[in-house]
Amino acid sequence: MLTPDTPKMWGGRFEGSLSPEAQAYSFSLQHDVRLWKQELHASAAHARMMGITGMLSTHEANRIVDALLEIHAEIEEGEWFPFDEYEDIHTAIEARLFEKIGALAGKLHTGRSRNDLVATEVRMWLRERTTDLARALLGLCHRLMHLAEQHKETLMPGLTHQQHAQPVTLGHHLMAHCWAFIRDLSRLAHAGDRMNLCPLGAGALSGTTFPIDRELLAAELGFGMPIPNSMDAVSDRDFIAEYLFVSALLMVHLSRLAQELILWSAPEYGYVELSDEHTTGSSIMPQKKNPDIAELIRGRSALVIGNLTGMLALVKGLPLTYNRDLQDDKPLLFATMDTVIPSVRLMSDMLEKAQWRTERMRAALQGDFSTATELADYLVRKGVPFREAHHIVGQIVRECIQRGVGLEGLTLEMLQKHHPRFEADALEAIDPERAVRARAILGGTAPESVMHQIEQAKNWLAVIEHQLNELLNPN
Ligand code: ARG
Repeated sequence: MLTPDTPKMWGGRFEGSLSPEAQAYSFSLQHDVRLWKQELHASAAHARMMGITGMLSTHEANRIVDALLEIHAEIEEGEWFPFDEYEDIHTAIEARLFEKIGALAGKLHTGRSRNDLVATEVRMWLRERTTDLARALLGLCHRLMHLAEQHKETLMPGLTHQQHAQPVTLGHHLMAHCWAFIRDLSRLAHAGDRMNLCPLGAGALSGTTFPIDRELLAAELGFGMPIPNSMDAVSDRDFIAEYLFVSALLMVHLSRLAQELILWSAPEYGYVELSDEHTTGSSIMPQKKNPDIAELIRGRSALVIGNLTGMLALVKGLPLTYNRDLQDDKPLLFATMDTVIPSVRLMSDMLEKAQWRTERMRAALQGDFSTATELADYLVRKGVPFREAHHIVGQIVRECIQRGVGLEGLTLEMLQKHHPRFEADALEAIDPERAVRARAILGGTAPESVMHQIEQAKNWLAVIEHQLNELLNPN
């Protein structure tokens, strides 16, 4: 019989016990203690189901459920906490249940195994944290959309190869980041389709001979349906790998944005000043204002990528079904969620509180030749083939560089020397503001196009929010 003095679930077959070192090596309570609510919730659903299917009398089922509720209150109020000498959260809670209701506690584990239990509880935990992550991501998307609207007319250089390419608006640039986050949110919602399935009733691996109502359990715990194959139910961890991938990609997107904020806050750019809330000083150089939070987001993306590769490597060699290796899925998952959620929130806050130096962005367009394409397009409109126009404008740029002027320094005379089709309005074509306004194509950088994509983004977000609501509030 399991008592608090024999804190394990499987002693009968053994004469000796694990060496202290092997025990310390294998116990997982320090990680899976996070699953205590899910453990209590899943156990109560199991007990109620046992009462309904006749595996327990109604009185027994109620006593178990009441005791589980008591344990819930004890933990919440700090009166009792699953302590370290137990192997894992399942063992700890069962032992506490025994202290409360004696041998009846031993009936709860009928027809279930820690293998199906742990897989169920991780899914429940993940579903809950998905809500927090989705909320944080939605906040970030709305922040970017709001800023984009404010800066739909703010001109800045658009880059390719880190060289000035064509003028864009800051709003357009910020929306480019926003779309990546919208896709991350969409991936998060879709991953839910595969995560939200219930392993309970799979037992250790092959199902059970007891009349476990899997449909009822799945519905009680808010899952879409029971997992169709009991062996798959206890050995599948791809739902975790999928979340780690979604998280890793999200961190990569955050890292790219963080990298731009780091560059933009350097004096060479001076496009942005990050708030004191997200920067630090130097212990030796009094003038320093370092973008530490952005740097840490960039750095932590490496750790999250590591967690994904760790997870894939953990599973790749495992024969079906449950293997103890799988216990180490949780530290990877927990560490990832602990990193990703604050990273998203901090990025959003950092963007909100940053000061945008729009005059520096505008000044960076001065003399940067980023409207050379406009001159070539001008000739094309006059009937010159684009390849030829490109070559001619290349020569104009060369001449400007030799004379030490930008395109702004061009005169009509200089232009006409290169091609007779240039007329006075060619000098207007090189105005960056005009170049931006002219790109009113769908998805272009013109203010009206930026406004249009913000509307599109709102529609996408509404659809994704609906999917997430269905996943997270199934009833
Ligand atoms: N602590 C284990 C885990 O997280 C669950 C227990 C299953 N253990 C076992 N020996 N079958 O994976």
